[in-house]
Amino acid sequence: RAASASKQACDPPSYRDDENADVDWENLGFSAVQTDFMYIMKCSKDENFVQGQLSRYRNIEFNPSAGVLNYGQGIFEGLKANRKEDGSLLLFRPDQNAIRMKIGAERMCMPSPSIDQFIEAVKQTALANKRWVPPPRKGSLYIRPLLIGSGPVLGIAPAPEYMFLTYASPVGNYFKQGNALLNLYVEEELIRASPGGAGGVKSISNYAPVVKALIRARSQGFSDVLYLDSVNKKYLEELSASNIFIIKGNVIATPPTSGTILPGITRKSIIDIAYDLGYQVEERAISVDELIDADEVFCTGTAVGVGSVGSVTYRGRRIQFKVGECSVCQELGSTLVGIQTGQIEDKKDWIIEI
Ligand code: COI
Repeated sequence: RAASASKQACDPPSYRDDENADVDWENLGFSAVQTDFMYIMKCSKDENFVQGQLSRYRNIEFNPSAGVLNYGQGIFEGLKANRKEDGSLLLFRPDQNAIRMKIGAERMCMPSPSIDQFIEAVKQTALANKRWVPPPRKGSLYIRPLLIGSGPVLGIAPAPEYMFLTYASPVGNYFKQGNALLNLYVEEELIRASPGGAGGVKSISNYAPVVKALIRARSQGFSDVLYLDSVNKKYLEELSASNIFIIKGNVIATPPTSGTILPGITRKSIIDIAYDLGYQVEERAISVDELIDADEVFCTGTAVGVGSVGSVTYRGRRIQFKVGECSVCQELGSTLVGIQTGQIEDKKDWIIEI
């Protein structure tokens, strides 16, 4: 009887996936929509995560001296599930998010879930919230894995306890105006990351500091900020939440992810797709002068997808770039979306169908 009582306590709540959530699928943006379930797993410092479980989506409680609240000991991931016509869900390269979380956890002195545990959590979160996955071509279910120092700590040290959780929200376009014609502002005062810092991992502490520059740029009518390197203020780094690429002729170039730039999974996938389509791809430092001389500019990210940049404003000068139907950016973006949504054959085993 004791065994069955404890089994009952651990049983995940039951859910239905045969009804649609009450969402206006035509007008999805990128904002937090509360869904039904999240997945939680806990462990202590110096231990491994063992077993997690689904729970109803709810607020979580922390000790006021939790490591994440006081010292920002936390990292996160983002990935999408897309609905196919036949109703199944497609996850895009969740193993890559799991690996990136492991690397980030090591940098932030946290234990991390195994690759299998991470993928299992993502699968369960997507399936339990299936009624929130937009219909084909209307958007995606954005899944947010979080790893945080949840235990109390006062002096600077790793927290004694950790929480891994995944929740999800239906999303459409990241930018309000859609992904066409982004107008970027080259930020010269504030920096995003510096050598030796944590700019190369998805630490939560990388994001609050970019809000100031973003608000300032938006108030002047720009879509986003393009950061420069902290040392020379001359080379491109990335946007607030996406990587940058430039195109000149047949060459597609993007800055290398050598510590200050987040190694985006969309970035990596676009590099592979570009090679396959016959472009020459270069990962190297790109100066603002080279950007000004580019034919096309685009950005990539899980939330953003592939966004074509219509203009960049640098020191008061607005430089415009080619955009539209016949652009390379369009070709790369539609190939990526085709694979992610099951319209183009997945020859690289990037997709997990659930
Ligand atoms: C993502 O693209 O998944 C991100 O994590 C960006 C986020 C800050 C919206």
